Amino acid sequence: MNRTIELVKTIYEIKQLEEFHEPQIALAGRSNVGKSSLVNRLAGRKSLAKISSKPGKTRSLNYYRVQPDGFFLVDLPGYGYAKCSKTEREKWGRLIEAYMTANPALKAVVVLLDSRLTPQKLDLELTSYLRGLGIPVIPVLTKADKPKQRERAALQTQWRDILQQLRLPLLFSSKTGMGEEKLWSILAEYADV
Ligand code: GTP
Ligand code: MG
Repeated sequence: MNRTIELVKTIYEIKQLEEFHEPQIALAGRSNVGKSSLVNRLAGRKSLAKISSKPGKTRSLNYYRVQPDGFFLVDLPGYGYAKCSKTEREKWGRLIEAYMTANPALKAVVVLLDSRLTPQKLDLELTSYLRGLGIPVIPVLTKADKPKQRERAALQTQWRDILQQLRLPLLFSSKTGMGEEKLWSILAEYADV
């Protein structure tokens, strides 16, 4: 299917949150894990979402509409960005919380996990937070072009056990396109389109 992705809304403050009724799937993960690169890969465009080798690039909630399916991908600012101030981190937490809670249009959260790292504290906190809210977690191991096959496979099993899911987390690379088709089918399944 030929899909297009366009940015339709950028939000910095809780008071700007508005109710879209179309299904939404959010993208969450630590700063620099590759969220914006994943959006660009899916969009088939190099610079739809701004990416950076320095963490903390995305500071807003970005709503991307996927056509012709009609659901939204929502790129969230990365968490665990040490260089920003405590006040800013708290503001981030409140914004994400306001977005995630009481949002019936939010069907699932793609949690991006760095395929080169063992499970990190912040990742475990996020996944258990989502579990508590009853929001399905779609785990995606990013930058999968980097580690060796054996290391990737071990991490996949480890995450599957932590998340108590039947499926292994998806291996994804924005660089090579690994996992792209599979991710589209998972997104469509959760968005129910
Ligand atoms: P924040 O906006 O700070 O939260 O970061 P982000 O999660 O949006 O990460 P971003 O997409 O900006 O990518 C961070 C860095 O990782 C950039 O230097 C990317 O080029 C690199 N990167 C992202 N995806 C991949 C990948 O699949 N493979 C490789 N090798 N590098 C990647
Ligand atoms: Mg980003």
